[in-house]
Amino acid sequence: MPDQIRENSSPPSGTHDRFALVTGASSGIGACFARALAARGMNLVLVAKSRSKLEAIKAEIQAKFPRRVEVIEQDLSAPGAAERLHSELKDRGILVDLLVNNAGFGAQGEFWQLPLARQTEMLRLNIVTLTELTHLLLPAMIARRSGGIINVSSTAGFQPIPYSSVYAATKAYVTSFSMGLTEEVRASGVKVLALCPGGTATNFFDAGRFDKISFPGGLQSPEAVVEAGLRALDRGRSLVVTRFVNRMMLFVQRLAPRRLVARQAGEMFRPRGIANRQ
Ligand SMILES: NC(=O)c1ccc[n+]([C@@H]2O[C@H](COP(=O)([O-])OP(=O)(O)OC[C@H]3O[C@@H](n4cnc5c(N)ncnc54)[C@H](OP(=O)(O)O)[C@@H]3O)[C@@H](O)[C@H]2O)c1
Repeated sequence: MPDQIRENSSPPSGTHDRFALVTGASSGIGACFARALAARGMNLVLVAKSRSKLEAIKAEIQAKFPRRVEVIEQDLSAPGAAERLHSELKDRGILVDLLVNNAGFGAQGEFWQLPLARQTEMLRLNIVTLTELTHLLLPAMIARRSGGIINVSSTAGFQPIPYSSVYAATKAYVTSFSMGLTEEVRASGVKVLALCPGGTATNFFDAGRFDKISFPGGLQSPEAVVEAGLRALDRGRSLVVTRFVNRMMLFVQRLAPRRLVARQAGEMFRPRGIANRQ
């Protein structure tokens, strides 16, 4: 986390109000980021499609903390969304100190059967908008020689996942892009983190119409994911895989042939109605 952001602190005097922009802040991991960052003294820009949910989270936060909370309703999968959001920030006079690129969704099913439009939306939200927002907000952070970016990736990005092939590929991109960027900007004082949770108890599986998937160790709480992410950013890490059980699984699968790993992942993610064809 950028140096001056500390638990329950107010913005240091003589500096601008410190803002975190959280995409997908209306539920799950994004909503938990909003609460945790407000507790650490940051003002917030909350972005998602559901204005009513964002307004409810704003009210909840402002009942506890004297923070400025700006709500921006925006479909971040639409072409040009990042540019529109950036100019809205300028209009409101907001400088972003911490960007949390969290909005994202998945889908389960055979690639050729899932609607192409929905998968293209996923590519735009999970990859294109995340990249564009980073490109638009990073130069000002570099100029100030401070700031942070947390890109919410996933353990899904560490191997191909049959029946969620596009989703897993989007997260492979997010992890690779973020870690490359960490090294590019390291000397500038800006921190970039790829946050990789495994299965987390949010609305994600309902939104992507997943069958029930059994994750080793069950689902992690979104609060624990956020805490691990903020701690890793504080420490200047480029990557964090949350939870010991997830790190162990990734370690073991590095030793196995990639084809077998993909096949195993397919077993885990195959929808109930699709027969095993192997
Ligand atoms: N849950 C997991 O098991 C898990 C594991 C690893 C990584 N992740 C990642 O964690 C991130 C957050 O997901 P979550 O688990 O917290 O799921 P979630 O509860 O479904 O939250 C997704 C958030 O993204 C927003 N969103 C979706 N489409 C959007 C769009 N087109 N434009 C703007 N905002 C949009 C949603 O709000 P609106 O619908 O209001 O727009 C919501 O706030 C995602 O990137 C996901 O890939 C999740």
